[in-house]
Amino acid sequence: MVDLVVTENQIIERILTMELVRVTERAAVSCARWRGRGDEKAADKAAVDAMRRELNRLSIEGTVVIGEGERDEAPMLFIGEKLGNGFGPKVDIAVDPLEGTTLCAHDMPGSIAVMAMAQSGTLLNAPDVYMEKIAIGPGYAQGIIDLDASIEDNIQAMAKAKGVRVNEITALVLDRPRHKHFIDGLRKVGASIRLITDGDVAGVIYTTEPEKSGVDIYMGTGGAPEGVLAAAALRCVGGQMQTRLILDTEAKVERARTMGVKDPHKKYDMTELASGDVVVAATGVTDGPLLTGVRFRKDVVETETIVYRSVTGTVRRIQGQHREMQKFHLD
Ligand code: FBP
Repeated sequence: MVDLVVTENQIIERILTMELVRVTERAAVSCARWRGRGDEKAADKAAVDAMRRELNRLSIEGTVVIGEGERDEAPMLFIGEKLGNGFGPKVDIAVDPLEGTTLCAHDMPGSIAVMAMAQSGTLLNAPDVYMEKIAIGPGYAQGIIDLDASIEDNIQAMAKAKGVRVNEITALVLDRPRHKHFIDGLRKVGASIRLITDGDVAGVIYTTEPEKSGVDIYMGTGGAPEGVLAAAALRCVGGQMQTRLILDTEAKVERARTMGVKDPHKKYDMTELASGDVVVAATGVTDGPLLTGVRFRKDVVETETIVYRSVTGTVRRIQGQHREMQKFHLD
């Protein structure tokens, strides 16, 4: 029998696990009321407001260290914003209250409300810029993929490690003009490409269950907050991820420097994006491969949430039935 030694920090973080579920549930329900209405800003704002309100109820001394919204001038929880009632552990918070704003506004698959919470000083503190990313799931020898290796080398290494042919490897890529070289390169090697219009937090998470998702590797450039959130989830279940911030103007370099990014070209490993004990929660807004979206029924609102905890590697799927929310039209 194994004795689990549990530190005070871990007890706090264990209790907070359920609290995080409440936070992402509320954010998801709020923006789901805007699902399919074509109004991205309103959907985003609903998620942001609900997430802020719920986080401020928690007994934490929280600071947002990275969050989505600056790049597209959307409503946001600000980097540096203090959250919680101030009576509790000091924690870092990474947020994307509505990941896949366009997906929600057009009721397309895959939008989620997602956040991570970790010991203070352990999540990457950086601006909302673009980030180069490569990620694979658990079960592979360390270092078989590399952000700076060629597409061909990465895919061949994956195929060899998995024991399949190159044309049996599927790479997930955001469908963007900037990814033309990835798409061309992957086609040349003979790999299969799954293109998604949005939502690369889930895109990275798909690599953790290739049998279910059919996705072996994520490649490309997306948002930095999404990168940190995905790395935090990957840390809980295993896997490998490498990233690099795209700091392509002096202003971005300077802003990142004030947040502690000394080397603007640094290649970050998953464990540097989320280095401490971390909890990640995501609730489905619209239906998707990872999560079922919010359901509004006569007397109840239903949600599905996935929550990851790094200390134990526990992953829970939580089906919520919220009666009060529907009765009093709370969101
Ligand atoms: P939003 O939450 O802003 O809608 O982000 C969706 C998303 O697809 C992310 O998953 C991804 O990281 C990012 O946008 C990519 O940025 P861009 O849409 O500018 O290419």
